[in-house]
Amino acid sequence: MSTLKLVVTGIDDTIDGIRTLTLTHPDGAVLPSFTPGSHIVVECGGPANAYSLTGDGISPTAYVISVLRCETGSGGSRWIHDELTLGDTVVTRAPRSAFAPVLRARRHLLVAAGIGITPMVSHLRGARLWGREVRLLYIHRAARPAYVDEVRALTEHASIHTRRGEFTAELTAALADQPFGTHLYICGPAVFIDEVVAAATGLGWPGSRIHLEHFGSAALDPGEPFTVRIASTAAEFTVDAGVSLLEALESRGFDLPNLCRQGVCGECRIQVAGGAVLHRDLYLSDDEKQEGGAMMACVSRAQNDTLELGL
Ligand code: FES
Repeated sequence: MSTLKLVVTGIDDTIDGIRTLTLTHPDGAVLPSFTPGSHIVVECGGPANAYSLTGDGISPTAYVISVLRCETGSGGSRWIHDELTLGDTVVTRAPRSAFAPVLRARRHLLVAAGIGITPMVSHLRGARLWGREVRLLYIHRAARPAYVDEVRALTEHASIHTRRGEFTAELTAALADQPFGTHLYICGPAVFIDEVVAAATGLGWPGSRIHLEHFGSAALDPGEPFTVRIASTAAEFTVDAGVSLLEALESRGFDLPNLCRQGVCGECRIQVAGGAVLHRDLYLSDDEKQEGGAMMACVSRAQNDTLELGL
């Protein structure tokens, strides 16, 4: 799995609670390109978290990420806020795309809350570059106007709100008034995503035109219990609700590689020999998910009662 060692060449703490990092190659070399909506996984002094890339994805000379300080998470954001200084080296994975614009879409409706604006910034850059029709609805706390100036510079078609009622009214009208072929992209806290999805679904949007970007596994529900069969030994056991497959395997002595435990780094990939997978990761491609031959044990579960694993 390709990793990058990047140097922190910029730190912006202008907005309270949000630290924006500029990361560059030690030699100033061009970094791997990425599509809008991509993220990188950053090793944060122990935990590993995924952060959206906000810059221009074509032959980038820097990656720019913005990190909301989270007091209750795994500690990765606090490490970035409290420990990192200019000149430090951080280890990241190469960019992955799990929230890219659908190229056949006739129009793109972007809906973001809070730090969920970050993948939308790269979507807006791509839309401007390729002449795609785009509209953004964005709500943020008055004290945290992340990327407001950049958004205004990138598009005239952005509505930026700090009041929930006004935002909701405009969102409802926008969802009700979209031409056929519009795709909807949503990023923000889990509750916000659920509300927007429910509103869109209620107005007749098909799931195939709704795309979500969650902030890692904190947004995932505990899931249903399911049975696991180990192909090499025929051993069977149950994975309870609220317990990940990775945890269940570890408690039975399996030593699986893992890093992020949030479905973003790709380390805990295991082979699936039978059964349907409920994929909940941001790592596997859509094609890989459809094929069903692999899953990320830290977040994904069985779609039905039983999964057979190629272990
Ligand atoms: S541990 Fe990173 S995807 Fe599972």
